[in-house]
Amino acid sequence: PETGCLSIIVLGASGDLAKKKTFPALYNLYRQGFLQTNEVHIFGYARTNISDDELRDRLRGYDSICTSFSLSVHIFCCGALWYLPQETGDAECVSSFLQLIKYVSGAYDAPEGFQALDNAIYEHEISKNSTEGSSRRLFYLALPPSVYPQVCKMIKNYSMNRSDLGGWTRIVVEKPFGRDLASAEELSSQIGELFEEPQIYRIDHYLGKELVQNLLVLRFANRFFLPLWNRDNIANIQIVFREDFGTEGRGGYFDQYGIIRDIIQNHLLQVLCLVAMEKPVSLKPEHIRDEKVKVLRSVVPIQDEEVVLGQYDGYKDDPTVPDISNTPTFATMILRIHNERWEGVPFILKAGKALNSRKAEIRVQFKSVPGDIFKCEKQGRNEFVIRLQPSEAMYMKLTVKKPGLEMSTVQSELDLSYRQRYQGLVIPEAYERLILDTIKGDQQHFVRRDELKAAWEIFTPILHRIDKGEYKSLPYKPGSRGPAEADELLERAGYVQTHGY
Ligand code: BG6
Repeated sequence: PETGCLSIIVLGASGDLAKKKTFPALYNLYRQGFLQTNEVHIFGYARTNISDDELRDRLRGYDSICTSFSLSVHIFCCGALWYLPQETGDAECVSSFLQLIKYVSGAYDAPEGFQALDNAIYEHEISKNSTEGSSRRLFYLALPPSVYPQVCKMIKNYSMNRSDLGGWTRIVVEKPFGRDLASAEELSSQIGELFEEPQIYRIDHYLGKELVQNLLVLRFANRFFLPLWNRDNIANIQIVFREDFGTEGRGGYFDQYGIIRDIIQNHLLQVLCLVAMEKPVSLKPEHIRDEKVKVLRSVVPIQDEEVVLGQYDGYKDDPTVPDISNTPTFATMILRIHNERWEGVPFILKAGKALNSRKAEIRVQFKSVPGDIFKCEKQGRNEFVIRLQPSEAMYMKLTVKKPGLEMSTVQSELDLSYRQRYQGLVIPEAYERLILDTIKGDQQHFVRRDELKAAWEIFTPILHRIDKGEYKSLPYKPGSRGPAEADELLERAGYVQTHGY
C-alpha cells in the first residue's frame, strides 16, 4: 500500500449527496480501520460560511431514517448519514472521525477559495514529516455537473498535489454526466483538457454493489455457465429496478432527467454490459472496460414499439414539477445486441419509481427443453435470478419431480441467499468500496470516457424524441406494477411467467 499523507476533499460538503452518501461512506471506512492513520485528513469545501465545528455538528446532527440493511454491523443506507448509537464506543468513533474533518469555505469559481484550500492541505502535508509521495489528494465532487468544469479548472490551477512532495491528484465525479451525447461529450472534453483519464473516476454506484461485482466471477469462473450463456440457450434477459417510493422532494431535479437518464442509461446499462460482455483478456481495468465498450457498440437502435413509458399518478403534485410534465418515472424497453452471442435475445430493461416493491434483479430466462416429454413447459422455464437488492441472493428456478408417489413435475428453486450462507459477513455499501478503489487507484469499477460516450449514443435519439413530446408517458397507480402495456411488451418479447409451487 502507498504511504504518505492522504487528503480527501469533499467539494459540496454541505450538500445532500455529501451528507447522505460521501461522509457516511468515509465514516464507515474509518470505522473499519481503512482511514485510521494520522496521515489521513478530510477537507470539506462549500460556499456556506461556517466553522469546522459547525460542519461537524451538522454532520453529527443528521440522523434521519436509519436502517440495518446488510448482514451485520452495517447501519447506513440511502437517507442516513450515520446512526449515532448509544454505546460510548461508537460515539467515540464518530467524534474521532469528525475531528479529521476540516472545513474551508469559498465559491466554486474563486481562486482565493481554492488557494486557501491548498494552503490548508499543504499545512497538513508538511506537518507529517513528509516523505516521497506525501501529497495524495482525492477531490470528490459532490456537486451539480454544471459546476464541474469551473471546479476542475480551480483545482488544476490552485489545488493540485505538490510536486515537491510527490503523490497524485484524482477527481471523483458523480452522475448525471450530461443530458445527452453532445452535453456529455462537452463535459468530458472540458474535464479531459485539465486531467488525464487515469485521474478521473466517474462513479456509477451500481458497479460497487456486491452482486454486480460478482457477475464476472459467476460467468467466467463457473463451467456450468460457460456453454449456456448465449443465444442458443437463453430466451431473454431482464434487468429490473423498482422502487416503492416516488421522487420524494427530488421532483424538481428528477423532472429534468426522467427515469431513463436517472437509472437506465447508467445503472442498468452497466449491469447489462457485465451480463453480456465477452471474457476479458485479464482482470486489468482496461481489459474489462474494453469488453464493455464492445457490447455497447453492438447495441442496435431502440425500436419505438419496444418502449413503454409511464408516470405515476400524483407525481405532478410536487410543486417543483410542472403541471404539464410528461417526464417518465417508469420505463420498460428492449435492447438488442447485434453480435454472435446475443443476436435475437431481447434484453428487457425496466425501471420505475412508486411501484409495488423495492427490488433490483437480473432475470435470465432459458429456452424451453426441445421435445418435452413431461409436458411441463406451462409451469415455466428455467430461470437464473440474481437479486442485487434487497437481500442479496442468487437462485435457479428449475423443474423437479414433485415429491410423492406420482410422476409429476413442479417448479422449484436452488437458492443461494447471502444472508443465510454468509452469516456474520459484512457486505460493504457501494460507495465505501468505490471510494477505497479511488484511493488505491483502481479504475475497474468506474466508467471510462468511451464507455460513457457509447452509453449516450444508445439513448440519445429516444431521449430527444421524448423531450419533444413524441412519446406519451402512460399513467399508473402508485404501488402498482406500472402500466399494463409494459407487461404486454414483456410477453411480446417472449418472457414466460413461471408458476411456482
Ligand atoms: C440514484 C438515482 O442514482 O440511484 C435515484 O438518482 C435512485 O433516483 C438511486 O433512488 C437508487 O440507488 P439504490 O442503491 O438505492 O438502488
